[in-house]
Amino acid sequence: MTNTTSRKPIRKAVFPVAGMGTRFLPATKAIPKEMLPVIDRPLIQYAVDEAREAGIEQLIFVTGRGKTAIVEHFDHAFELEATMTERSKSLDVLEPTRIQPGNLVTVRQQVPLGLGHAIWCARAIVGDEPFAIFLPDELMIGQPGCMKQMVDAYNEVGGNVISVLEVPEDEVSSYGVIAPGIRNGALTEVKGLVEKPRREDAPSNLIISGRYILQPEVMRVLEGQEKGAGGEIQLTDAMARMIGTQPFHAVTFAGKRYDCGNKTGFVEATLAIALQRPDMADEVRAMMQRMLAES
Ligand code: UTP
Repeated sequence: MTNTTSRKPIRKAVFPVAGMGTRFLPATKAIPKEMLPVIDRPLIQYAVDEAREAGIEQLIFVTGRGKTAIVEHFDHAFELEATMTERSKSLDVLEPTRIQPGNLVTVRQQVPLGLGHAIWCARAIVGDEPFAIFLPDELMIGQPGCMKQMVDAYNEVGGNVISVLEVPEDEVSSYGVIAPGIRNGALTEVKGLVEKPRREDAPSNLIISGRYILQPEVMRVLEGQEKGAGGEIQLTDAMARMIGTQPFHAVTFAGKRYDCGNKTGFVEATLAIALQRPDMADEVRAMMQRMLAES
């Protein structure tokens, strides 16, 4: 039986952006990975747009050294706006960067001890509410967006909801994989989580992608958690320990995911989005055809 009234709404989202982005060096030496633009929007902007579409109000950025550009991107740029107005340029283009005062909070992760640790750093601001997590280097394009699809599912089943994608079986060993229980359309009960299994050991071909809705109890699990794979405090380990104590479901994302944490994924996202944009699609398609014919 579903009971939509008893679910606490998802009002807060944590964006862990304290990673070092070593795969994009030297580009990310002085610029955060999350500020790399896909066409004319930094990666973080796509994630924030997706959060807002899902009704999320408060954005919590877990930042580290050299990440101030992310916060400045969402700040009021008085001089820029004054100059643009003076020159009769429209300010509409800046609209997505406007955040209601008080709705952007930053916390520092002083040492990059892993994704789980980054989330735990936001515990005081998350408080006693379920919350969303976005990994901004995973660019999710869907109609509606990935988090909106997840919030709709959460309103039905409550508890913890993660986003998953089907991949070919020979790719599972690069990802976190779910052990599925009962399936109902896009919704799958999660019975277990396995990080980077061998192909023959993988319990499914449903991989965890970078969107989560978690209950606040995960913070207590993270609190006492030992380091896992790579010497880092792993979010997957903490989630695995919540299974069985709370409802846990996966939503198969109806849309496309681009892994912008690696270089070819980033190029793919750039081309795919360019081909969807009415202001540039024709020109880019012609350019791509020309380049392919010449290569
Ligand atoms: P990644 O594994 O992609 O690491 O982190 P990274 O540092 O960003 O990139 P590479 O591998 O060195 O190129 C996944 C997400 O977790 C965050 C990252 O910012 C990214 O959003 N993260 C990771 C933290 O916030 N803190 C950490 O200690 C580790």
